[in-house]
Amino acid sequence: MKNKKMPSHHGAKEKIRGTYPNETMKLLIERASCRNFLHKKIPEKILHFILKAGIHSPTGGNLQPYSIIKIENEEMKQKLAKMCYQEFIAKASVDLIFCIDWRRLERWAQLEIAPFTATSSFEHFWISFQDTIICAQNICTAADAMGLGSVYIGTVLGWFRELKKMFKLPHGVFPVVLLCIGYPKKRPTSRKKLGIDIVIHDETYHEIPDEELTEAFHDKYSHVKIEATDKRIREISKVCRKVHGEKFALRCVKKIKENGYINPAQRYFGLHYRADWMTAGNSEFLKIVEEFGFGWFKKFRPPVRKGGR
Ligand SMILES: Cc1cc2nc3c(=O)[nH]c(=O)nc-3n(C[C@H](O)[C@H](O)[C@H](O)COP(=O)(O)O)c2cc1C
Repeated sequence: MKNKKMPSHHGAKEKIRGTYPNETMKLLIERASCRNFLHKKIPEKILHFILKAGIHSPTGGNLQPYSIIKIENEEMKQKLAKMCYQEFIAKASVDLIFCIDWRRLERWAQLEIAPFTATSSFEHFWISFQDTIICAQNICTAADAMGLGSVYIGTVLGWFRELKKMFKLPHGVFPVVLLCIGYPKKRPTSRKKLGIDIVIHDETYHEIPDEELTEAFHDKYSHVKIEATDKRIREISKVCRKVHGEKFALRCVKKIKENGYINPAQRYFGLHYRADWMTAGNSEFLKIVEEFGFGWFKKFRPPVRKGGR
């Protein structure tokens, strides 16, 4: 997303006011991603505490099936920044790559003569993905608590094979997300979110009436009105045609013309996370998952162990 004229979903400024029962609640509710870092090293003791907060996170069965690659080397940070087209990655004091890691547990099982099929199990993969993210989020909160700022970088998913090489990731280790941490140049302001009334469902799921739903998103994105240039209309129209056909493309363009702008939903799914591109890589991702040592989507064949099964 290089178009400077197009407002980004990263840029909303919304000050949340109110009183909080304690500092933790204030920290959690006022948090925001930080993409503007001071050139300042994090003292080792502080970083140690932050990382410790991560590894004390809840994890399925207390197995801790994850590893974190800690990158402070300037050259490596530069490489990551270039790779992900996001300059601030190089400016962060530390970049952390959170990886699912079944390799360590597999080795443990082998050494202790225990059966092991975790890399062939969807259940294990699913839970380990959650474990990895929960650990990352605790680290974010800990960083906030220590006066630091952080931002996740999800675009590493375009570079799985490169990351494997760069960081010597063995079989069974899968990079999930990158987290940049550093001292903020300026405290970032909290972003608008959908409210409790929209996100929380009492006891069972309730569909929100159309008007209420439209209003909620309208409130959240009231600042986002994308200029309807011919180029953008052509692009969205092409995406619509590809995924839902000509009639839908005409409806979408009609709505843009009536409004006089491209609305945030059209921007998200027609220009940013393009509906046609987002599905295009599915089979390639499965290939990569397999290359990294995971085979849970295939018929299970028990691996032969050294010294017999
Ligand atoms: C999984 C994930 C991936 C993300 N990837 C990026 C990214 O590549 N670049 C970026 O600037 N922000 C990224 N973000 C940050 C989001 O843009 C940010 O959380 C969102 O806009 C809400 O803003 P807030 O964190 O300030 O509340 C990511 C966040 C998550 C949770």
